[in-house]
Amino acid sequence: MAFMQWNESYSVGVKAIDVQHQNLFNMVNDLHAAMMRQEGKTAAGALLAKLAKYTQEHFAAEEKMMEAAKYPKLAQHRALHHELTKQVQEFMARHQRGESGLSIRLLQFLGDWLTKHIQQEDKAYSACLNQSGVH
Ligand SMILES: [Fe+2]
Repeated sequence: MAFMQWNESYSVGVKAIDVQHQNLFNMVNDLHAAMMRQEGKTAAGALLAKLAKYTQEHFAAEEKMMEAAKYPKLAQHRALHHELTKQVQEFMARHQRGESGLSIRLLQFLGDWLTKHIQQEDKAYSACLNQSGVH
């Protein structure tokens, strides 16, 4: 069974973003699966790098859409993205230093992020984007 399961409760009402979020879920699941197979140490670095890169692209795409829709809380949302990016980079640096016991904390962080950020902060822009004709 997958670690994180995307369902309609995660939908932000914009297809392109839902697809990107589903890809993020898959990447976190890949990381979880590698850790379950005790391949955490070897696979985690590459998977983390892939996740970090995809996250950047995803945030940029989201911000572009919010900007186009003149989302009033764009600045705050951008700041949240910045914070999440910083945290992912910190995990990468710690992983590179060979810090032990990182896996559980990392998965916890990613799980919390996906559920909380999507269901609260991302969903807050749904109506605004939908009203501007983006679905
Ligand atoms: Fe977001």
